[in-house]
Formats: sequence, C-alpha cells, structure tokens
Amino acid sequence: MDIIEGILHRKSIRGFKPDPVPQELIRKVLEVGTRSPSAENGQPWEITVITGEILEKIKRRNIEKLDARDPFDPDVSMHIYAGIYKQRHMVLAAELYGLMGITREDRERRAAWVRRGFRFYDAPVAIVLSADRSLDEAPAQFDIGCLTQTICLAALGFGLGTCIAGQGVLYPEVVREFARVPESKRLVISIAMGYPDPAFPANRLMSKREPIDSVTTWLGFD
Ligand SMILES: Cc1cc2nc3c(=O)[nH]c(=O)nc-3n(C[C@H](O)[C@H](O)[C@H](O)COP(=O)(O)O)c2cc1C
Repeated sequence: MDIIEGILHRKSIRGFKPDPVPQELIRKVLEVGTRSPSAENGQPWEITVITGEILEKIKRRNIEKLDARDPFDPDVSMHIYAGIYKQRHMVLAAELYGLMGITREDRERRAAWVRRGFRFYDAPVAIVLSADRSLDEAPAQFDIGCLTQTICLAALGFGLGTCIAGQGVLYPEVVREFARVPESKRLVISIAMGYPDPAFPANRLMSKREPIDSVTTWLGFD
C-alpha cells in the first residue's frame, strides 16, 4: 500500500471480528511500527501485547471499576478539552452515535457504548505503550505518539484495524496487575487491534478535519 493511500485509509476501528491475531503478524506490525522516529533515537517506549484470558480479565475489571464509578487515575495527563476542541469532540460523538443508531435520550445504550471503549472495543488484542518513570513525561509522550501512529499504519498495511484507546489506560492499576507492568513504568496509551468487522456501523466513520487554510499560516509564498 502506498504511503499516502495508507494515511488516507487509516481510521479508528471500533468493531472487530473475534478472530485471534497470530503472534507472528503482530511481531511484524511492531517491527515496522518501531521504525518510528524518536528524539535522539532514544526509543523511550516499552510495548506490552495482550490477548486471550489476560485481556479478558483486564476488560472485566475495567468494567467493574467503571460501573462502580471508581475515579480515573491515569499515569499521564489526559486531555480534557474545552471550547472549539470540545466542540470537535461533540461532532465526533454525534457522528458515532448517529451511525450506531443511539439517540441522545438513550442513556442505556450510550453507557453501553462507553463500556465498549473500556473493553478495548472488544478487540482480540490490546497493545499498551509505556515509558520508564525516570523519563520526562512530555518528551516521552511525544515519541510514543509518533510510535502509536506508526503502529496503526503498519497494522493497516497488514490488514488489521486499530483504535488508539486512552480509555484502556484510565485505570492503569488494572493493566499493571494483570499484564504485570511494573510500577516503574508509566502507562501512556493503548491501542485496540484486530481484524475489522466490516458490518460494524461505526467503522464506516471517516472523521472530519479542519480545512488546511484554517490551521495553517503560509509565509513567503507571494
Ligand atoms: C491520544 C488518543 C487517545 C484516544 N482515545 C480514544 C478512546 O479512548 N476511545 C476512542 O473511541 N477513540 C480514541 N481515540 C481515537 C480518536 O477519537 C480518533 O483518532 C479521532 O476521532 C480521529 O478519528 P480517526 O482515528 O478515525 O481518524 C484516541 C486517539 C488519540 C490520538
């Protein structure tokens, strides 16, 4: 797949086939993905790939905590947007709920949708990216951001779908317990991964972007 085509085709996948993903295929995704750049080639990332019963336990425990309204306690600061940024989120949510046929009043199905996020959208694989606590948080997160997108693009190239999932690490102690990630590592982000379910309505979403001229300043071209 051509680079431009890959970038244009990548989108968040929130409905997966239950089929397991072979470990060797995930290894290829990560071999390509870790070609991602990082400042001074420091590669400030640790990768945990979780599937099977361990992932099921994490999903179950996440839901228990969510249902018990346990406060989130992420290892890294998570975005809480306001203003125009919040508005863009509202547009996204409306588009997703629209495709899923979930109305504004249907609180039960809205809650069920949020639960799906905490179950890594029922993906058969979750990738958790973490960084050593000895590293400055922001630079490590920047590099892990690059890695995240590169993994998602590599996965697409191997026929897999992904959804970057902040929700998956909002209860870091759950992942830490079941996936045995040591306390010395900050859980930065997770990625849900698997074979996309083409019949899942939300997978049809091609999310909007601002027009280039509203986010770009052009200088010295005239
Ligand atoms: C740091 C980060 C965290 C995200 N966390 C979530 C999440 O918890 N749940 C979710 O459904 N999507 C999550 N996403 C996916 C975004 O909603 C998605 O990338 C955005 O809406 C653009 O859509 P696209 O990926 O289909 O292009 C996250 C993306 C990023 C970059």
